[in-house]
Amino acid sequence: MLPIAVLVSGSGSNLQAILDAIETDPDFGARVVLVLSDRPAVPALARAEAAGVPAAVVDWDEHHDRASFTTAVCDALAAAGAQLVVLAGFMRILAPEAVDRFAHRIVNIHPSLLPAFPGRHPVRDTLSHGARVSGVTIHVVDELVDHGPIIAQEAVDVLPDDTEATLHNRLHEVEHRLYPATIKAIAAGDITLEGLQT
Ligand code: GRF
Repeated sequence: MLPIAVLVSGSGSNLQAILDAIETDPDFGARVVLVLSDRPAVPALARAEAAGVPAAVVDWDEHHDRASFTTAVCDALAAAGAQLVVLAGFMRILAPEAVDRFAHRIVNIHPSLLPAFPGRHPVRDTLSHGARVSGVTIHVVDELVDHGPIIAQEAVDVLPDDTEATLHNRLHEVEHRLYPATIKAIAAGDITLEGLQT
């Protein structure tokens, strides 16, 4: 069983999809050893509690800088024994220490076809550019934001009357299928994270 940590900041619908997959699929091959949030009292923490998995808060507001925040996050991940770190709507950028300590073991999901539309508002940016195709990317995390070797990707058509909400809803549906499937494939050894190039 691959021990995974899931890092969250808000709703946690991707976390829920992972928890549900673990619950329903006896062959999933991974277990959640820690849900870590950078903010207290977010819905994702309630999801962790409901599922009976360990949860912790490393409060961004209690740290003076990104380096000390990152050290606290990495220490919590290491103490939990996480072998794979899954960013799922985690809205903080970790310092390079995280990539050093968890080399090739941090993955992220992003609601665009990277390298298009990185950053905080990918769905809004997709619409404002008039893109006809959007999608979901899962990638290995490196030192840059929304950057690193791509390990899974799925396209989603942009519809003429899409709003940010309607498009993000359809992207979320893909995320909730693609992220658990990708984590299962990593746990099974069908996807290897080492040695991938950007
Ligand atoms: C998802 O769209 C994910 O791709 C992005 O942030 C959103 C998180 O949603 N990084 P949720 O918290 O999992 O519901």
